[in-house]
Amino acid sequence: MKLWSGRFSKETDKKTNDFNSSISFDKRLYRQDIEGSIAHAGMLGKCSIISEEEANQIQKALSEILREIEEGKLAIDQTAEDIHTFIEGELTKRLGDAGKRLHTARSRNDQVALDTRLYLLSEIDGLIGLIKGFISTLCQKAESHLDTVMPGYTHLQRAQPITFAHYLMAYCEMLLRDIDRLYDAKKRAAVSPLGSGALAGTTYPIDREFTAKSLGLPAVAQNSLDGVSDRDFAIETASALSILMMHLSRFSEEIILFASWEFKFIELDDAFATGSSIMPQKKNPDIAELVRGKTGRVYGDLIALLTMMKGLPLAYNKDMQEDKEALFDAIDTAKACLEAITPMAATMKVLPKNMLRAAAEGFLNATDCADYLVKKGLPFRDAYKIVGGMVAYCIEKGKTFETLTLEEYRTFSPLFGEDVFEAVSLINCVTSRRTVGGPAPERVKEHIEKVKAKLRERNDTHD
Ligand code: ARG
Repeated sequence: MKLWSGRFSKETDKKTNDFNSSISFDKRLYRQDIEGSIAHAGMLGKCSIISEEEANQIQKALSEILREIEEGKLAIDQTAEDIHTFIEGELTKRLGDAGKRLHTARSRNDQVALDTRLYLLSEIDGLIGLIKGFISTLCQKAESHLDTVMPGYTHLQRAQPITFAHYLMAYCEMLLRDIDRLYDAKKRAAVSPLGSGALAGTTYPIDREFTAKSLGLPAVAQNSLDGVSDRDFAIETASALSILMMHLSRFSEEIILFASWEFKFIELDDAFATGSSIMPQKKNPDIAELVRGKTGRVYGDLIALLTMMKGLPLAYNKDMQEDKEALFDAIDTAKACLEAITPMAATMKVLPKNMLRAAAEGFLNATDCADYLVKKGLPFRDAYKIVGGMVAYCIEKGKTFETLTLEEYRTFSPLFGEDVFEAVSLINCVTSRRTVGGPAPERVKEHIEKVKAKLRERNDTHD
């Protein structure tokens, strides 16, 4: 029987009932729903809106329901309208009138807003933990590749030499910002809407701060219409997760490229790659491809939430029931991707020789060669032109700046001396880029330490 059946003289049409029901997906909120109800019952008792004894009975029965669901002893009824209805119905079955009193001074509208917020808060911590795990893995890899020279690219054209450590640490910075965005979303989600009622608060003498406090929420919604009708906290999380996925997708794209025979900078571990059913030579980077592909899903979830909300008049509208699947999917997908990408990155084999070869063939030291002439007194534009001519010459002769003879250098400028070979050595090009944020091994080593310290500091201040 429906909670709201009093006004109705007919049962809901079967198909309409299925269409209207959210239990198939909101059942995962059972824990948060029960926690919210326990806090609400405690407040009702404390404020003498129901008796202390009834409040205790309700709290005890709710704890039992929770235990039984978790132990698999109580099955969630798939024909119920939603998880809130199911739990209240179960409570009433056990307690009779006392169960029926739980919903005093509350509506499913503030209840569902609370449950979704609590769920989100509990999931964000797990997500942050997974991102931290990925950052630690990248830091570890970076530590063993401080001197591994590779080409850095712009336009996917070889540009200037960097190291594999420098490359990996770029992703650590992006991921640290992803963590910040999630902490930030958490701050705004940690607000209790309970007490907003259906939309206009309640006439009962409730204590909203008390309920919020017992749920560990530092604040209460300051406007009852807003409390029940915004889902910006879900949108913000989906947005932070979309940005995270964009980062994971770029990394994945590079793993796919780097694992190809055309690059061969890395080789994926057999345990984290797949084969082809027809081509025996294939080793496919499926995990990275799936992460890249699933990024579209999370963007889709964000767009679904934004679009669902954009035309809704205040306050609650049933459209908002659609928030859950999108939010759950964004969270589940991001978690699954982090869980897959971390061991894949941890076990991949790095092939420094191939990286160095690609760097040597790409004239990545052209800028450094021009800088050499500048240091000998030539204006940069003149130096740039001379070195451009040298590149053309090398391409024609199949040579690199490392293999040119000093005589050949001198045909381009008398300023070249024996020390040019040192100036164009790739490791020197990298080592001399010592500015903060640059690829010099000493700088990157400092950066790794900073990132590790940040991970520790974030553990202390937030968790
Ligand atoms: N299942 C509903 C949802 O997720 C719960 C709130 C129902 N409120 C209502 N006024 N019908 O949005």
